[in-house]
This record gives sequence, C-alpha cells and structure tokens, in this order.
Amino acid sequence: MKDYRFAVEEAVTWIENRLTSVPTTGLILGTGLGSLAESIEIQEVIPYKEIPNFPSSTVESHAGRLLLGTVAGISVLILQGRFHLYEGYSARDVTFPIRVFGRLGVKTLFLSNAAGGLNPAYRRGDLMLISDHINLQGANPLEGQNEDSWGPRFPDMSAPYDPDLLELARSIALSESITLHEGVYVAVPGPNLETRAEYRMLRTLGADAVGMSSVPEVIVARHMSIRLMAISVITDECDPDNLNPVSLQEIIAAADSAGPALRRLFELCMIQTHSS
Ligand code: HPA
Repeated sequence: MKDYRFAVEEAVTWIENRLTSVPTTGLILGTGLGSLAESIEIQEVIPYKEIPNFPSSTVESHAGRLLLGTVAGISVLILQGRFHLYEGYSARDVTFPIRVFGRLGVKTLFLSNAAGGLNPAYRRGDLMLISDHINLQGANPLEGQNEDSWGPRFPDMSAPYDPDLLELARSIALSESITLHEGVYVAVPGPNLETRAEYRMLRTLGADAVGMSSVPEVIVARHMSIRLMAISVITDECDPDNLNPVSLQEIIAAADSAGPALRRLFELCMIQTHSS
C-alpha cells in the first residue's frame, strides 16, 4: 500500500510541475468517445507513458493521453483512454488515474462509457444516465489495506451518482431535447460480450445496460468523496431472444454517433456545476 501511495504521489507531483494549473473538474472519455476531446479546446497533451507510474492502455480504440482543456471556458482535466480489468490490470491499476485526480484536487468527475442495452426500450446510439450500478467484476479497487487519508474503510454507496448532478442532467436533456434514459449499469469483467443466457440473467438482476468499465473508477472516486455523473452510450441491443453478432467497429460507430449529444450534455452540465 505504501508503494502504491508513493506511486500515486509521484505522478501527482510530476503532473503539478508540468501543468500551469490543475482544474477541479475531471472527465473520462470511454470507447469511441475519445474523439469528443477533439472538439474541446486543448491546452496540454501528455501521453500516459510520460507520467511516472501511469499504466498505459493496450486497447487500440483507447488513446492513452491526459489532456488539459477548456470546455466552454471551464478548465477540465481529461483522461482520453482508460484501463480495463480485461487488459490484465488489477482493479488498483485501473483506478490509478482516479487516485491521481483525487490527489490533484479534482472534485467533480464526468464519466462516459460504451454499454450494451439490456432494457428493451433502449436503441443503439441512445444515451443512458447511470443512476446506480451493480458490480459483477469480481474485483474491487479497495481490496487490501485501506489508506485512511484517502477515504474510509467502508465507503457508503447509497448514492454513488450525485443526486444534484442527476437532476441537472435530466433538466438539461429535457431543455435540449436530448433523449436520455436513466438506469442501472452492470459491470462485468469482459472481454467477451455476453451469451444470450447471460444477457437474460443480467436483465433479471435489474440492470439496464452492461459494460466492462467505470464501476472501479466510481468506487474509488466515491472513496475520495469526488462527486460523479456517468453516462453510457448504448452501442448494441442485447435482446436475448433476437441477438445479432456485433463487431467492435459497430460498437465504436454507435459510440461516435452519440458523440455530439453527449458532448452537449457534458458541456452544459459543466457550465452549470461551475456557476452554481
Ligand atoms: N456487453 C458488455 N460490454 C459492452 C457491450 C455488451 O454488450 N457493449 C458494449 N460494451
């Protein structure tokens, strides 16, 4: 634990020395949504491999870069590319960047991911505001000795997704005519997509969308009292009675198609959280 904490602090110090200022707002861009960053005014680009102790992404669809940017005049620290358990990383490795964000002073975090739609009302390319989650990854980033200076041994999870941010997202979606479902995200380890029997099971468990990320990051962010808003882009329809094979290309194309609406939503949420 001491080594992990030391590794985090080393990365934090390096980033603090490199950046002229460190924002209090963070953003994680998931599969296919890395292009969102291109529409953000970028001040600094730091490849993950330059940052001491940072893991580096092994997935081609995830560029591995830390960006300092401005969204509608608000300074934002952006993770373009994240880490997954299926890459062979531990839950602690996956959440290393979130620990760094927390120690840098990030207070509000916006997350996006690609997910399969279990709720039969969801269509490919739709957005879902995550209101709650189920962790079926079989791993937890808080396993092992707790670092008390970061957060409590038994963090509360009664409302991991900030109720005020949820309300804000709903009202912005309404006023901007953005279709925004709201539901439960279930995290699985991956990397294979699910069988029909598994999709049926996940739906029965109460999930509306399924993906392979985000939950470890959310757990660590909450451990550090960072408030969160997370949105899934529905990239495929997981109807067990009518399941079609999907390719990564199709998943990325669906994620990209939702880019403009997602960007608008995040942008307006950031403006309003900053001015409130
Ligand atoms: N299952 C798991 N992860 C996913 C899916 C899916 O159907 N679609 C996009 N990410």
